[in-house]
Amino acid sequence: MDPTDRADGAGGGKLILFGEHAVVYGVSAIVAGLGTGAKASAEFASQTTLTLTNGLTSEVLARVTPDDDQPIGRAFRAMLGTFETDNTVAVDVAIHVPIGSGLGSSAAMAVAVSRAMGALLEASADAVTRAVEASEQVFHGSPSGIDQAAAMCGGVFRFRRGETIQPLDVRGLRLLVCAAQEGASTAKMVGAVGELDELLPAPSGRVRDAIESVVDEAHRALVGGDHCRLGTLMNVNHGLLGALGVTTEPLDAACHAARAAGAWGAKMTGAGGGGCVFAVASTDAEQAVLDAWSDRGWQTFVFDIESSQS
Ligand code: PMV
Repeated sequence: MDPTDRADGAGGGKLILFGEHAVVYGVSAIVAGLGTGAKASAEFASQTTLTLTNGLTSEVLARVTPDDDQPIGRAFRAMLGTFETDNTVAVDVAIHVPIGSGLGSSAAMAVAVSRAMGALLEASADAVTRAVEASEQVFHGSPSGIDQAAAMCGGVFRFRRGETIQPLDVRGLRLLVCAAQEGASTAKMVGAVGELDELLPAPSGRVRDAIESVVDEAHRALVGGDHCRLGTLMNVNHGLLGALGVTTEPLDAACHAARAAGAWGAKMTGAGGGGCVFAVASTDAEQAVLDAWSDRGWQTFVFDIESSQS
């Protein structure tokens, strides 16, 4: 086959370390790219299709055309629309992070698919970015853009809506992750936080101010390599997310289990209402934390974060 008849693309998963939800209101957040996410390949074909595979299990999850009305079909249609092509294109995408758990699977998918299609169709970088935005609109409504930035850039960075990202130099950070509960809709959780803000604007604003101050402290602890202090800040941020109403019993239980097993700290990540919890622990305590989670039937993952700016 002519090599120009096929093109590949990749996008990264992410874990929001600090500042989710508050970031929607202009507070900054810190996010870590996971170094793994989604991989796509696109080729000219007789029919336009998107095949979605769970890269962790090899299970084919969906095979859609742009006319399909399920979210993945609508996302594919939205991406194709921005490329304004008359070509028929078959895209395969495999997702290598837990899906719908707040680890950025939808943004990673959108970036991988848009990059593969963009390369095949020789589209501009701007068209690729717009295709990613169009797909994220289908899954998330009007997000802050943090997932998309992480899926496109990788590394660890501080993000504030509408501003250029600030990369952070982070070394030797091991994140222990537990999929504690099926994820909830990001749009629904963002909506619930919005309702609380309408009902109680002053206390909600105070909670966001406290989150901002946690983000400032966490920035220093991360760059300084003080992972014990980072853990304490995670505990505080988790409590503040509880105040915003987005934690759940399983998320709280997973945090308590990690702390009881010796973790320095634990926190939910992403929109909440379900999804993942992560912990940091000394090397000696890591296995006990992972065991505490798997003993309760939760799936666990380990991500080593290195984000060098040099
Ligand atoms: O999509 P999730 O679950 O990673 O959450 C995104 C983070 C939020 O702050 C809740 C929403 C947003 O767009 O920033």
